[in-house]
Amino acid sequence: MDSRPIGIFDSGVGGLTVARAVMDKLPSEQILYVGDTANSPYGTKSIAQVRELALNVMDSLAKRDVKMLVIACNTASAAVLRDARERYEVNAGISVVEVIQPAARRAALTTKTGRIGVIGTEATVNSGAYLDALSVVPGIEVVQAAAPKFVEFAEAGITTGDEVLAAAREYLAPIKAAEVDTLVLGCTHYPLLSGAISYVMGDDVQLVSSSESAARDVYRRLVEEDKLRDPALGIPEPHFSVTGDEKKFAPLAQRFLGPRVGNISRLEVSQ
Ligand code: DGL
Repeated sequence: MDSRPIGIFDSGVGGLTVARAVMDKLPSEQILYVGDTANSPYGTKSIAQVRELALNVMDSLAKRDVKMLVIACNTASAAVLRDARERYEVNAGISVVEVIQPAARRAALTTKTGRIGVIGTEATVNSGAYLDALSVVPGIEVVQAAAPKFVEFAEAGITTGDEVLAAAREYLAPIKAAEVDTLVLGCTHYPLLSGAISYVMGDDVQLVSSSESAARDVYRRLVEEDKLRDPALGIPEPHFSVTGDEKKFAPLAQRFLGPRVGNISRLEVSQ
């Protein structure tokens, strides 16, 4: 058992989709979330810039005595994975979970035709991280597309409407044309737009969320490393910090993490 917190970080609200999935699976875990909103978006920056920003945030989380660091951002995962393993796992004994390998594994297990689509930020797509991760699986063909506006929409809390659907149609056109049967949401912001994405792709395409896949990895690693927090300690409140404006972050975080249950009334149903 290990009662220390799990540090989760992203450039902004996207990592909340990972935090949500971790909290659903492991409600007894203490979450310390950091959104680097002062420097968001990461996806339009160079890998070298993202690397510097991400290591900075992760260093600050590592100082808060976390047992695990979750890189809840595909762009940051593409930029720092190897450094992070050495810097935190090997040198400081902090487990590191990222989002790309778990999502690639899940996509390879999900596809039946071997044709997989990947959407992500420009930096993630250009890094080729998903191509590398899936190249070890024989018989897989990958089609990638960057979907930069999706991050803006998610950060603004816009998840429906003509603008979102028009962007989805434009970004997803080459992926639809390649007749994939599986689509990786290779950015942790994108599950917030999964309604529009699955509407455009159609029901016969399976969406693989990098957020959900990473949360399964968190679960597996904590069990295998015997680092679960004792459930007898109760369900702790998660803690959120941002490097930018906390007033902008609060309502979005509330909405994306799940609204509190209020307004409950009793319904009388006549027999
Ligand atoms: N959520 C991040 C990802 O998974 C990136 C969003 C951004 O561009 O900051 O790639």
